[in-house]
Amino acid sequence: MKEKTRFGALGAVLAAAGSAVGLGNIWKFPYMTGENGGGAFLLIYLVCILLFGIPILSAEFYAGRRGYGRWRWLEPAALLSATIFCGFYFVITGWCFHYLILSITGATSALSPAALSEVFGGVTSEVVMPCLCIVLAVSITALITVAGIKSGIERASKILMPLLFIILIALIIYGLTLPGHREGLRFLFAPDFSKITPTLIINALGQCFFTLSLGMAVMANYASFMEPSQNLTRTAVHVAGLDTIVAILAGLAIFPAVFSLGIDPTQGPELVFVTLPSAFNHIAGGYWLQILFFLLMVIAAVTTTISIVQTQTDWLETHTRLSRRWATFIAAFTDLLLALFCSLSLTNSCADYLTIAGMSIYDAADWLVSKILFPAGGLLFSLYVGWICDPADVVNELSLGGHRAIGKTLLVLIRYVIPLVLILIVIFGFLG
Ligand code: TRP
Repeated sequence: MKEKTRFGALGAVLAAAGSAVGLGNIWKFPYMTGENGGGAFLLIYLVCILLFGIPILSAEFYAGRRGYGRWRWLEPAALLSATIFCGFYFVITGWCFHYLILSITGATSALSPAALSEVFGGVTSEVVMPCLCIVLAVSITALITVAGIKSGIERASKILMPLLFIILIALIIYGLTLPGHREGLRFLFAPDFSKITPTLIINALGQCFFTLSLGMAVMANYASFMEPSQNLTRTAVHVAGLDTIVAILAGLAIFPAVFSLGIDPTQGPELVFVTLPSAFNHIAGGYWLQILFFLLMVIAAVTTTISIVQTQTDWLETHTRLSRRWATFIAAFTDLLLALFCSLSLTNSCADYLTIAGMSIYDAADWLVSKILFPAGGLLFSLYVGWICDPADVVNELSLGGHRAIGKTLLVLIRYVIPLVLILIVIFGFLG
């Protein structure tokens, strides 16, 4: 049999971090933090990463390394939810490409906040440009994925992830020179404990799932390409660490600029598409900063979409007789169709037809994925690793070097604590 191509040690961390670091960090984390009261949200989010994120990520890595055994259905089921998610994610990735183009042509410079809001309305509800941008995003993703684990994904991650850090740091240094940046830092880092509510906790937990790409078999797929000598728990800690650092850096890049101009940080998904460009319009060098920022978004998004298309491709390759080329093509084409439907469901001309249960397909996919599929996926992975797999082997694999206590603690979390909390969250999702 052909020797399986595997990630190098650093490549594995960067590729998995590339999947984790995405719009969740640069688009969603800042606006969730903004809406949920700043520092208090950050604090609870960090607790969730430690208590739930790292254990579930380790469990998924374990499932990827050992395979799914009798729970053979888990991978295609998780992959189905990844595919629905991908349709939604490519729409926003398309917006990022669109904004990168608008920034380069200068179409958003010197516009008033109201005019920028209109631009965002156009970007999300037009027909032609959004669809073309989605085609662009899917094509770039497919071209990298088709080149394979080493020469495609690992190579792209090794170039794009460092670039992402450099851009972020440049943006932060600039933001810290702005007058009034301290207010932004205080908002992000000084927790106001009175803001901690059950909703905040559920949102923080949802963000933790989203940002670590959990419950969709994608992290498991990457783990199946790691060397047997790669320590899974250590890799999970590194990936979660890098992901958290990028989220905080994104907050550091955004909030000083927002506060320095006295803008309200609680505007939701519009934060980076409307609020931030209006902030850039007021500062010297804003034209270049805006290009850099949307380049950052595009890089973060593409390293993430690669991981989904790779998992779909790999599944098709192993379960059918398709070549990698055809498998990638079919995976990417399916995602493209879904994304186009999602995107069209937001346009005025199609909004009336493309609906499910009274919501646009886009909103329905968002609801289904974040409220049900993420927690359900995490639940299934923790039940599989916690109850079906051999506990002695799980503890062995998840121990850090000689520290068996770590493996044992992780197993207790994966077996009892996490399933209980996730069952509650799924029930909440149905009710709320
Ligand atoms: N983690 C990604 C981000 O932060 C988004 C994501 C969520 C994802 N679930 C996933 C990516 C599953 C790949 C697979 O943007």
